[in-house]
Amino acid sequence: MNSIPIGQAQRLTAPAPFALLSVRKEDGSDNLMAVSWWTYLSNHPPMLGVCLSKKGLSGSLIERSGFFTLSVVGEALADAALACGRCSGREHDKAAEFGVPLESASAVPASLVSGSRAAFECRLVGQTEAGDHVFYLAEILACRGDAAVKQLFAWDGYSRLGTV
Ligand SMILES: Cc1cc2nc3c(=O)[nH]c(=O)nc-3n(C[C@H](O)[C@H](O)[C@H](O)COP(=O)(O)O)c2cc1C
Repeated sequence: MNSIPIGQAQRLTAPAPFALLSVRKEDGSDNLMAVSWWTYLSNHPPMLGVCLSKKGLSGSLIERSGFFTLSVVGEALADAALACGRCSGREHDKAAEFGVPLESASAVPASLVSGSRAAFECRLVGQTEAGDHVFYLAEILACRGDAAVKQLFAWDGYSRLGTV
C-alpha cells in the first residue's frame, strides 16, 4: 500500500451512507442538508450521530432547536438531494426550490422527507468538537421506513449519488 491523502481514502471507501438532515429554522420552515457522515450509536436507547461542518447553517440550528430529522432518501430524489449539499439554507429555501416533499414528524418539531427508505426523528443529547466539524449525538424518538424504496449512497468523493 501507498500513503494517500484523506480525500482519496474517502473516495476509496465509497459508497458512503447518505441522508438528508432537516432542522427547523426560526421562520418555521425546514432547512435540508446533505449528510454522509452519520452512524448508528446505540440500540438501547436507539441513538445515532451526525458530524457537521462548523461552516454550515444546520449545526447552529440543531443547537438552538434541540431536534432534527434524518431521512435516508430514495433514488427519485437523487438530483434534489445532491443540490441540498451544494448550497446553504442561509440563502435558500431548499425544500421549496428543489421540490423535496416533506411530511410532519410525530415526535419532533422538524419535517421528514416523504418517500424515504428510512427516516429518524431525533433529539439532541450531546455534542463534541471534532476538528473542523462538530459531532452531534441524538436519541431516536421515532422512525419510519419503506423497504420498497431504493436507497441512495454517495460516490466519487461525495460528488455523485446513486444506488448500489
Ligand atoms: C453527498 C454529500 C454528502 C455530504 N455530507 C456532509 C456531512 O456528512 N457533513 C457535513 O458537514 N457536510 C456534508 N456535506 C456538505 C453539506 O451538505 C453542505 O455544506 C451544505 O451546503 C450545508 O448546508 P447548510 O448550510 O444549509 O447547513 C455533504 C454534501 C454532499 C453533496
